[in-house]
Amino acid sequence: MKFDLTEEQLMIQQTAREFAETEIAPSSVERDKNSEFPFEIVKKMGELGFMGMMVSPEYGGAGMDTISYVLAMIEISKVDASVGVIMSVNNSLVCWGLEHYGSDYIKQKYLVPLAKGEKLGAFALSEPEAGSDATHQMTTADKDGDHYILNGMKNWITNGTTADYYLVVAQTDKSKGHKGITTFLVEKGTEGFTHGIKEDKLGIKSSDTCSLSFTNCRVPKENIIGEEGKGFNFAMATLNGGRIGIASQAIGIAEASLQAAVNYSKQRKAFGTEIANHQAIQFKLADMAVKVDAAKLLTLQAASLKDQHKNYVKESAMAKLYASKIAVENALEAIQIHGGYGYVREYLVERYLRDAKITEIYEGTSEIQKIVIARMLLQ
Ligand code: CAA
Repeated sequence: MKFDLTEEQLMIQQTAREFAETEIAPSSVERDKNSEFPFEIVKKMGELGFMGMMVSPEYGGAGMDTISYVLAMIEISKVDASVGVIMSVNNSLVCWGLEHYGSDYIKQKYLVPLAKGEKLGAFALSEPEAGSDATHQMTTADKDGDHYILNGMKNWITNGTTADYYLVVAQTDKSKGHKGITTFLVEKGTEGFTHGIKEDKLGIKSSDTCSLSFTNCRVPKENIIGEEGKGFNFAMATLNGGRIGIASQAIGIAEASLQAAVNYSKQRKAFGTEIANHQAIQFKLADMAVKVDAAKLLTLQAASLKDQHKNYVKESAMAKLYASKIAVENALEAIQIHGGYGYVREYLVERYLRDAKITEIYEGTSEIQKIVIARMLLQ
């Protein structure tokens, strides 16, 4: 793995940083307070190529590598982790799968507008009774001529109310267990497909999350992604890359916490000097900085393996496991350094903690990441 970033990667990082600071930061507090989706920001991100970063230009994408995607995700999430997850889901959970498993029809009709940011995507695997135990799918898809009829519920769907296209995982043959699972692309507005109300969440409040409901929803067979019966493997392969995106989101939060702690400790005085001069604070800052860099190295390692088309299952799980853990730890330390001010909304650090927690849960909990890592070690 090379440690130096290329000119192009540095340019993407800089563009994302400037965009985050000028276009995202000014509205982030209000959007968090009002649980408001960043429609205008997502539109502009699409125009800049941030919604289909790794998709080939042939299909409307920016044709960049995974390392560039990690760098951009960190910059965006440093300023607003809600925008980070919206970007991550569209890039890693939707566009990636369509480009690698979709038919030419699917790519032309759906991937192109998704990669350009003209449409938004969502990934619907989780169900009320199938979260970590993802093979336990209850949503069914019964063949009826040239269509499949979907019935069931999906839960915790990021971009749930705002997406245009949804990747929906369903059982086409229950007798075959996970080998009877198939993934479909379902368009918003299809008869029999509705979404629930937005969840009132602890954090990432500017992103929207909701349940989906399918009642005799007819989906044409052309909308199968990959092959019938391979939908679970598709979902798992997709999540491997998704975990790199969430690790990057977590690093953004951890780095923002560190920066806030450094800035505050240089201003706040106690015992006759800036608190940055006290070893108690210096030790905390040093620990926070080491954690950010360790998480970055793990995540860039996973991204680099992915770019080289090598196996990155273990490395992406490690990156997500560690980055999400230290995002929570750094946010907590930033609050501790801010004292009482850290506990109120006037400073951003309380949001960092609220936003960090979900990174230990979605796209595979920390416990699931450990299972994935251990299985790779033992195979
Ligand atoms: N990569 C590729 N393939 C994988 C895989 C991975 N990481 N994990 C499992 N598979 C494959 C296996 O090789 C196996 O394939 P074959 O039968 O063809 O050999 C198949 O999947 C079944 O695997 P297992 O027998 O290991 O299945 P399991 O029931 O024991 O559980 C699990 C596997 C790892 C626990 C899996 O269920 C899992 O990852 N669960 C967590 C699901 C998850 O991450 N959900 C997040 C929801 S999405 C979300 O949060 C999106 C959002 O909106 C932000």
